[in-house]
Amino acid sequence: MHATTYLADYRPFPFALERVSLRFRLAPEATRVQAELHLTPREAGAALVLDGEELKLIALAIDGADLKPADYLLTETGLTIHPAALPEGAFTLTTEVEIAPALNTALEGLYMSNGMYCTQCEAEGFRKITFYPDRPDVMARFHVRIESDLPVLLSNGNPVAQGAGFAEWDDPWPKPAYLFALVAGDLVATSGSFTTMSGREVALNIWVRPGDEDRCGFALGALQRSMGWDERTYGREYDLHIFNIVAVDDFNMGAMENKGLNIFNSKLVLASPETATDLDYERIEAVIAHEYFHNWTGNRITCRDWFQLCLKEGLTVFRDQSFTADMRLGAVKRIEDVITLRGRQFREDAGPLSHPPRPDHYREINNFYTATVYEKGAEVVGMLKTLVGPEGYRAALDLYFARHDGQACTIEDWIKVFEDSSGRDLTQFKRWYTDAGTPHLKVAERFENGTYTLDFTQETAATPGQAEKPARLIPIAVGLLGPNGDEVVPTQVLEMTEARQSFTFEGLGARPVPSILRGFSAPVVLERETSPAEQAFLLAHDSDPFNRWEAGRALALSTLCAMAQGGAPGGEYLDAVGRLIADETAEPAFRALCLRLPGEDEVAQALASAGAVPDPDAIHAARRKLMETLANRHEAALAATYAACAVPGPYTPDAAPSGLRSLRLACLAPLSAIDGGARAQALFDSATNMTESLGALNQLIALGKAEGPLASFRARWENNRLVMDKWFMAQAALTPPAAAVARAEALAADPLFDWKNPNRFRSLLGGLSANHAGFHRADGAGYRFYADWLIRLDPMNPQTAARMSTAFETWARYDTARQALMRGELTRIAAQPGLSRDLSEMTARLLG
Ligand code: BES
Ligand code: ZN
Repeated sequence: MHATTYLADYRPFPFALERVSLRFRLAPEATRVQAELHLTPREAGAALVLDGEELKLIALAIDGADLKPADYLLTETGLTIHPAALPEGAFTLTTEVEIAPALNTALEGLYMSNGMYCTQCEAEGFRKITFYPDRPDVMARFHVRIESDLPVLLSNGNPVAQGAGFAEWDDPWPKPAYLFALVAGDLVATSGSFTTMSGREVALNIWVRPGDEDRCGFALGALQRSMGWDERTYGREYDLHIFNIVAVDDFNMGAMENKGLNIFNSKLVLASPETATDLDYERIEAVIAHEYFHNWTGNRITCRDWFQLCLKEGLTVFRDQSFTADMRLGAVKRIEDVITLRGRQFREDAGPLSHPPRPDHYREINNFYTATVYEKGAEVVGMLKTLVGPEGYRAALDLYFARHDGQACTIEDWIKVFEDSSGRDLTQFKRWYTDAGTPHLKVAERFENGTYTLDFTQETAATPGQAEKPARLIPIAVGLLGPNGDEVVPTQVLEMTEARQSFTFEGLGARPVPSILRGFSAPVVLERETSPAEQAFLLAHDSDPFNRWEAGRALALSTLCAMAQGGAPGGEYLDAVGRLIADETAEPAFRALCLRLPGEDEVAQALASAGAVPDPDAIHAARRKLMETLANRHEAALAATYAACAVPGPYTPDAAPSGLRSLRLACLAPLSAIDGGARAQALFDSATNMTESLGALNQLIALGKAEGPLASFRARWENNRLVMDKWFMAQAALTPPAAAVARAEALAADPLFDWKNPNRFRSLLGGLSANHAGFHRADGAGYRFYADWLIRLDPMNPQTAARMSTAFETWARYDTARQALMRGELTRIAAQPGLSRDLSEMTARLLG
């Protein structure tokens, strides 16, 4: 069994590695990789320990002389050259290995996708390519020569030579091996350029398989917008003559920021109005931005070790969220991000996988690319910005780039930059990085003689391995509203540093209504005794759009929780929604968010966190019932809005028309609950874009009236992989719960279910786990089906199997029968012979 790695064990690499020269002779089952490493010892007498996995060693020499068997030790995980075999000064190590990219189904290292060679090296994939110190604090300049008959040969940096059957690339910027990339294939480019703020012209290319080139325009524009934004907002300019993006169909993750050669899952590049939804467009723009922004936050300044992952990921997610907020509607983007944070990170933090944004141990680092590292990591950056203000934030980032360019850094370096630039002591704030768990913030209020007091307490439940939870610094943005809805105290940021702390506001004429945690100023659960009337008041009057939405959300959530436990929908919620549907002064995208009901998983989480045991069927029924009640109560307004939001003219993915479409679909959901699917069927028949086509299909599937539309959709799109992923996903996720597992089984038997393709696998299995009541079927059929497929995928692609095992992370929420069924499946998975390190770490942690 693979050992645990601890943060406390970090030691610098005892050699300097300044330059690397690689030569690839590509062949599907016998690629030869020659590597030349220019090394200088930094500690006398140290052995040279190189990582290497699944490599066939062909040749090994130092300064041109072959090593003898006694000079080194070759194991399953690497190559150790004994100190006695090493020169005292600088030397050159040359190795040659053979690898088989065509047999690489794990999609890590060098692999093949549709006849194309490509790489994925983060976090520890480079060791499957050659023997190397595969750790992010070893930064070297790379020269790469690729030999192959394929027409397009790409690597990092700038092209320096090419001819018949070869190309050479040189990357002037020192980088860790995880940022290495190589692509070879029959590819076509959509090209453009960007002139940087200092006037340098950069060639931009989006490379795809022939036939896909008509769906690259949006990605290219998104790249240009990202480059401009990073110059304007952070003063950061691109630093090579060329920037390449390649789309591949087989990819474990979303995308990867390799220096000068980003590699993308094709679903995050290819878009046309007929094949991609508004959400796809928004996501493509955000991910292109994210990977581009890594050029400074990740590549120029990288991580010392993988424990520091949120140094690059949390910051870069924060940057891409800010970018999208600037490109579209900022308030809407913030609400969407908080919905995701709660749905993924709060869920993770409430279960057995809870860990801090900077963990201190792991077995398989791939298992730590989590919602906590990414999304909570981004929230922590946002809180720092709130604490030091926008100018203070920019000053801190300027100092970060000035001080650490070219280095591999830690969270301590990052915090120090904020301390030095702001003069603040951030010792307590650092707990956000090192402590796990979501703080619960309770607030009570008092009003006496014109003085209003908010009494806060904070508490964080114990998490695996962390019992003690000292108080954190929580920035709480607060505003106060008067009885007529006017703002009597504008937003101010209270800094809570104690476990219990009070804040007073003086000189008020009447008892105010507080708007607390505006903009979601900290990733906490706010608990406050409030009335539906007060929530309806905030939904009508709050000047902070986030808290306006939040008031309606809380109302919807408490209504659903009550209904799932046998109650009836409260009048306040229904009235408040009625006012919103017709409120033409609010942005359509905002109204759409307010109309959309919380998902079933969110309701289950709310019930569990209130100490109840969620019943998935009751939650499902409550949500359908509320939809129907809403529609009956407001049919006229919903129908009028539905009709009014039809977008005339040709499709564009811009914020305004996509906001209208999203409001239109938000009206369609309740209407479909009472019109028998008539509108959805009409929309499906007339739709000319994927947003509306899929939006209509989703409603029909939920009604069990989609057989005809599903057949015609399939007939039209069966040759388009990305669209067929949607076809699989929609059915798995939305088929009514009683039929969901049977439907998933039928889909798994479909000849188009290519389970080795991660996108297709995720569509079906991820769809099923998103079908809350279907997955959690009382007889355990959902759990069994899901576990069977994880067991099947694991030997093929352990990384994806392990990531998907998080469907079971909520087992402790449910009744004892379901708990036993889920734990039974996890135990069955854990007992599989030859289980991967990835999945065995996950089952062990999930079982607790
Ligand atoms: N560096 C990651 C890609 C990655 C993740 C490589 C895990 C190896 C293991 C990349 O920058 C990233 O974060 N991609 C995200 C999308 C992003 C917009 C949050 C992804 O792939 O999901
Ligand atoms: Zn990233």
